[in-house]
Amino acid sequence: MLANTSESSDFTSLEDEFQGRIGKPILHLRNTTSTMDVARELINESNHDADLHGTTIFADEQTKGRGRFDRTWDSEPGKDILVSLILSPRTAIAGRLPIMASLAVAITVDHFSPDVSSIKWPNDVLVHGKKISGVIAESVTTDRSFVGIIGIGLNVNRRTDSERSRGYLATSIRDVSESSQDLDRKAVVTVLLANLNELHDALDRGESIMPEWREKLVGLGSPVEVSMPSEESVEVIAGVAEDVDEFGRLLIREPDGTLRAVAAGEVTTRT
Ligand code: BTN
Repeated sequence: MLANTSESSDFTSLEDEFQGRIGKPILHLRNTTSTMDVARELINESNHDADLHGTTIFADEQTKGRGRFDRTWDSEPGKDILVSLILSPRTAIAGRLPIMASLAVAITVDHFSPDVSSIKWPNDVLVHGKKISGVIAESVTTDRSFVGIIGIGLNVNRRTDSERSRGYLATSIRDVSESSQDLDRKAVVTVLLANLNELHDALDRGESIMPEWREKLVGLGSPVEVSMPSEESVEVIAGVAEDVDEFGRLLIREPDGTLRAVAAGEVTTRT
């Protein structure tokens, strides 16, 4: 039994809709601390991690939603998509999972408003420069294996006119599509799960999803600063964001000509 949760069944009927592994099974909780916590709890309780591969946990409300770099992730109850995926990937594709998630979200957003989404490295999904979704990747190393947890927060019905989200203006699918009514979240979840499964299957077949992800990236060629917070300090690299490499790392050309490959950080565009 999961601690601090109460269950809903709205999205669980989607379990049989897809051939792929993501969404088998689906847990849909009304309220929890964070779907990331629930995923960890399931992994810690399991004796066989591989059985959890594909488990997808939705919540209508989180009391301690978390974002990257120890930030909080706030959401209004029942308005948005808050989801964590448990994945036991082959080592070769483990690093691609956050890329898969942000690309699946971007394609989902475009489904409701064609060609509007872009991705800010590494995995923020933006529309017209406003953040519509964030992705967080965590991992649990058990004595048996490595298990990845990918968390996605996607603003669906939240009204965001004057809101600031972690230094960005935020937006939502409802705002972008200029709908006068809330969208059916289950319809958005259906498209999202279909896109996640399609991209995950492509990775499983050894196909690259990087060109499509790179195509969506904004800011390549621009002067940037990348902050890389660690436990003790924050390292900042300044230079031109030249490109990304085959691992999805951002390649920064520093003023002295050195090319640095950055795996994680927060990018600010310099003017
Ligand atoms: C970010 O942009 O910093 C990432 C935000 C990720 C938020 C999602 S919401 C579902 C899952 N549960 C959490 O507590 N966080 C992720």
